[in-house]
Amino acid sequence: MLSEYSKDGGGKGEEELEESEMLEVEGLGLYKGKVRIVRSEEAAEEIMLLWGLQQPILSKHNVFVHQSSPQLHIDACGRSLSILQSPSSLGTPGVTGAVMWDSGVVLGKFLEHAVECRKVLLQEKKVVELGSGCGLVGCITALLGADVVLTDLPDRLRLLKKNVVANLYGDVRGSAIVKELTWGDDLDQDLHYPLPDYVLGSDVIYSEQAVMDLLATLLDLCGTHTTVMLAGELRNDAILEYFLEAALKDFIVGCINQEQWHPDYRSQRVVIYIMVKK
Ligand SMILES: C[S@@+](CC[C@H](N)C(=O)[O-])C[C@H]1O[C@@H](n2cnc3c(N)ncnc32)[C@H](O)[C@@H]1O
Repeated sequence: MLSEYSKDGGGKGEEELEESEMLEVEGLGLYKGKVRIVRSEEAAEEIMLLWGLQQPILSKHNVFVHQSSPQLHIDACGRSLSILQSPSSLGTPGVTGAVMWDSGVVLGKFLEHAVECRKVLLQEKKVVELGSGCGLVGCITALLGADVVLTDLPDRLRLLKKNVVANLYGDVRGSAIVKELTWGDDLDQDLHYPLPDYVLGSDVIYSEQAVMDLLATLLDLCGTHTTVMLAGELRNDAILEYFLEAALKDFIVGCINQEQWHPDYRSQRVVIYIMVKK
């Protein structure tokens, strides 16, 4: 999708955008809200802007989560969700998904808010979540009406399945299944056919070694109609810049600013990017 930013015809072409120097568009992919476009080849400028504007180092981290607690309680979609965590696993090298991270709470509540404001429609949409961890984002997405595939590394699936079963009981508008997916590996048929409407991820850009595999999986999962939403934690500028630099080659990337997030779940240490394949 090189020629338009909004697939509904409301956006601007890349050339037109550059000529007018307008960086904000109304809608990108399936998202109907305002998006600040990150220009191609300006990954370094984006990082300077973000760190300059948000000054993440001055804000507290983990304000919406309690990583030392065995459960995180959070209200969403008219329910009280209870997400099991495994705090003791945090000490295991390489294990990060056994507890919740702020960006997961921010993304889940953003989606709830965006559906309420009619900026996002999830009913009957196919959604794949990458690096689901404890599963909050996927659970909220299913409660909002989507058919969700929550994915993670093979040894992360037990806790994820427990949280799906514990929270998606009774009358759920959508559906959820849990599946193994290691970034960079070939995709199973059911992830491919049909390709998802949305691909979601929270705090999945944190390891330089995984950036290229993550991008390969994003590219595999994206059709011309697919919208990617990634919430990231502003902790390592070099890794985020590396990701953006590579992502901007294949994707139009936009930033959803905090005014459009859930008013009670905003953080200067988090960013939400939206991407569609060029
Ligand atoms: C920091 S955690 C974030 C978990 C959850 N999304 C959240 O926001 O709370 C990163 C997640 O990505 C998963 N992950 C890391 N590398 C991966 C890979 N190569 N393939 C698939 N998943 C991976 C981890 O297992 C973990 O669940």
